[in-house]
Amino acid sequence: GDSNNTLKAVASFPIGASINPQLLASNARYKAVLQENYNSISTENCAKMNRIQPKAGQFIWTDTDALVNFAKQSNMKVHGHTLIWHVAVPDWVTNFQGDSLAWEKLMKTHIQTVVGRYKGKIKSWDVVNEAFEDDGTYRKSVWYQHLGSDYVARCFQYAHEADPEALLFYNEFVNGRPKKQAAVLALLNDLKKRNIPINGIGVQMHITINTPEASILSEIRQYANTGLLVHLSELDIRMNPTLSKTFVVTDALKSAHALKYKTVAQIYRSVVTSGQQFGITNWNLGDADSYLRTANTCEDHPLLFDETYNRKLSYYGFIQGL
Ligand code: XIL
Repeated sequence: GDSNNTLKAVASFPIGASINPQLLASNARYKAVLQENYNSISTENCAKMNRIQPKAGQFIWTDTDALVNFAKQSNMKVHGHTLIWHVAVPDWVTNFQGDSLAWEKLMKTHIQTVVGRYKGKIKSWDVVNEAFEDDGTYRKSVWYQHLGSDYVARCFQYAHEADPEALLFYNEFVNGRPKKQAAVLALLNDLKKRNIPINGIGVQMHITINTPEASILSEIRQYANTGLLVHLSELDIRMNPTLSKTFVVTDALKSAHALKYKTVAQIYRSVVTSGQQFGITNWNLGDADSYLRTANTCEDHPLLFDETYNRKLSYYGFIQGL
């Protein structure tokens, strides 16, 4: 292919994709397109707590090791996603009986075992993912219920103790939720003020072709104003925003999709200072492996590559913005 014109060759910051180790091992085309275009990998699921510590004290490293080894051979970096997330709580944790000290120990041990194993190999982590509800209150996760809202700060401290060099992120989806946005900014500023070791904000960016440019701009600008690193950590753009079951792709939709990718890249470059540009990561590689197809049970084409990993119009739109 025209390898000079790949995403990673054009961008002045890392370009990532969230990766599934089974697909990587079984699909040569997936692997080749990943290596050609990306220089960063996010662990889609394999480093989440339910996968990496499915039973108390039983850590399963195989999949995350495979991604780390592949990344090393391919000259890519690995972004660890995610240490603490309310969705990825294994049953043994849901059913755990213990006082707040026992809960604290459980959380700390998890974080430090995982971060410690990949010290110097996984150089950045989403420490806590999605701690807030849309109304800006804390999500009533097991962590919040047993440990109170300051569990978030302690997660960062524990991760930092395990690998003082790792860059630590708070990751969240906000688009169009002003109360949540305010709560996230308040958290970030509070952590900074208290010298809690936080380095960056992960802005998920699961958006649609109808997401207003102004809202993308104002969200990214507010994060940039914190002075933290800004990672667009899970970018995908739904072409079927109404989740229609009779969805048909038209040329107009393809153009709108390509333009939105270009706009996101341009906003990122214009609003985030180069020193804060941690990178942009796509959530999955091709349309066939997008989690949105399973999550929404309707057709969609949210990514830059089609079902067989050919470049789409949106690929070229994104390149134009980079
Ligand atoms: C998703 C994965 O892509 C799916 O395969 C899994 O079934 C559920 O989690 N926001 C996040 C990611 O922070 O962890 C989610 O990943 C997608 C939404």
